[in-house]
Amino acid sequence: MLLLVVLLFAHSACCGARATPSAESRLATKLLANYSPEMRPFNYGNRTLVKVGMTLSQIISLKEKSQELTTSVYMTYQWSDASFTWNPDSFENIHILRLPAHVVWKPRIILQNSKDGDFDVSLLTNVLIKYNGELEWIPPALYKSTCTINVALFPFDWQNCSMVFRSATYDRSHMELGFAYGEEVFVDRNAFQSNGEWDLIQKPISIYNSNDDPLYQDMTFYFIMKRRPQFYVMNLIVPAVLLTSLSCLVFYLPSISCEKMTLSISILIGETVFLFLVAQKMPETSFAVPLIGSYMLFCTTLVILSVVFSVIVCNVHFRSKHTHSMPNWVTYLFMDKLASFLNMERPSAVKQTFRIRRRSSVDAQKAIVIESSQRPSSILYNNQVERLLGGRIRRRNAPLDFGVVGTEGELNDMPCTIKPNIKNIAEPLKPTLKTICYIAKYLKTEDNLSQSQDDWAYVALILDRLLLWVYLTTFTLGTLAFFLQATMADYPT
Ligand SMILES: *[C@@H]1O[C@H](CO)[C@@H](O)[C@H](O)[C@H]1NC(C)=O
Ligand SMILES: *[C@@H]1O[C@H](CO)[C@@H](O)[C@H](O)[C@H]1NC(C)=O
Repeated sequence: MLLLVVLLFAHSACCGARATPSAESRLATKLLANYSPEMRPFNYGNRTLVKVGMTLSQIISLKEKSQELTTSVYMTYQWSDASFTWNPDSFENIHILRLPAHVVWKPRIILQNSKDGDFDVSLLTNVLIKYNGELEWIPPALYKSTCTINVALFPFDWQNCSMVFRSATYDRSHMELGFAYGEEVFVDRNAFQSNGEWDLIQKPISIYNSNDDPLYQDMTFYFIMKRRPQFYVMNLIVPAVLLTSLSCLVFYLPSISCEKMTLSISILIGETVFLFLVAQKMPETSFAVPLIGSYMLFCTTLVILSVVFSVIVCNVHFRSKHTHSMPNWVTYLFMDKLASFLNMERPSAVKQTFRIRRRSSVDAQKAIVIESSQRPSSILYNNQVERLLGGRIRRRNAPLDFGVVGTEGELNDMPCTIKPNIKNIAEPLKPTLKTICYIAKYLKTEDNLSQSQDDWAYVALILDRLLLWVYLTTFTLGTLAFFLQATMADYPT
């Protein structure tokens, strides 16, 4: 019984309170009684004045490749409607009423340059209604808009992106647009999240009234953003500069190691990777060439040229007398002029070696001659000498007499010139002398050949050094020009 009484009491208490409607619901019922959300309010002559504003929460991204700007914003629409006026005193001092968006008329102002077909706001929040008939609606929106990227100065660029808003239903004869917060996009410093790549420097709004078409009107929000280039400097430019500077070393590498081409081509492959990265980042536009793209192309060209020049230098280096004769102008230009110009005098040590080697071969010849004239066999082959000389005993200082004498014609056939004092030679020594002469002549030819090879190698060395300086200068100037152009980019203030 007690429980029943308590339940009845509770029921009557709750339903008694629900029976009298709250002031808010009474007000809503009154306001919406004869209201149709399809009809626009007249408040500006015969037109509807809608004030539009934007609060930027975040620039989410600006994709260069797809030329797409993604922003998270709160739109603000303010208009007034005489249907929504009441006396706050009659409604428990209610000054502001919040009604769901679908029960009141709203201006359908949409993003014209939408990229993904989502023209409208993301969430239909409640509409704020003031007792004097002023309405304010602040729906959040995530817009993806097109933004024509100007790639010319990438990655030291700035972009001018715009979001164009227009009434979807009414033209200017029915609806007029105005500024809600002045001629600038509002940034709430507490809610704003800055973008890691883009620095927002200007955010003006303008209302565009077409001169040709008096019915056309739109409202454009501009975002002028400057790129923070550190990321690209660290990940693209510095590695590319370092990689290209490596290719200077190609001209410092000795040709004999045959690694020039390998080095050049490895660098070329690395360079291609960077070129590919830049191409991947950029939109496929031909209106402008990105600064970094032209610099990469410059670097790649240099590396390709280094391959070409290494081939030429290797070709020169491995020439010899058998295959090429050195033209006079080469001797004049390289050995005389360029060598001294590049401060590359041929080291005397090289000449010395030649001299020593030459002298040694001459000495050998001489020694042979001397030996043959001094009867070397007299010590070792005494008996044979005795036999050769036919038992004749010779005085110590008497001129050598071999007894048997070869004819002059025979001696001239020998592959080397014979000193006149050994024109007469014993028959058994002739083959030996012939062999010795042959060896002497061979050594002499060998010497000449190796000298001509060394000459070509020297020319190649001079060429290499000359190219090193030219290459280094070109590369330095190109890189400086690139950075100078980058720093001279004028940013809007
Ligand atoms: C409002 O519209 C009426 C007729 O539609 C017109 O006569 C009048 O001039 C308009 N007023 C203004 C301020 O445009
Ligand atoms: C951005 O573009 C608009 C329209 O093209 C132009 O009027 C405005 O001057 C530009 N802003 C800057 C800072 O260049």
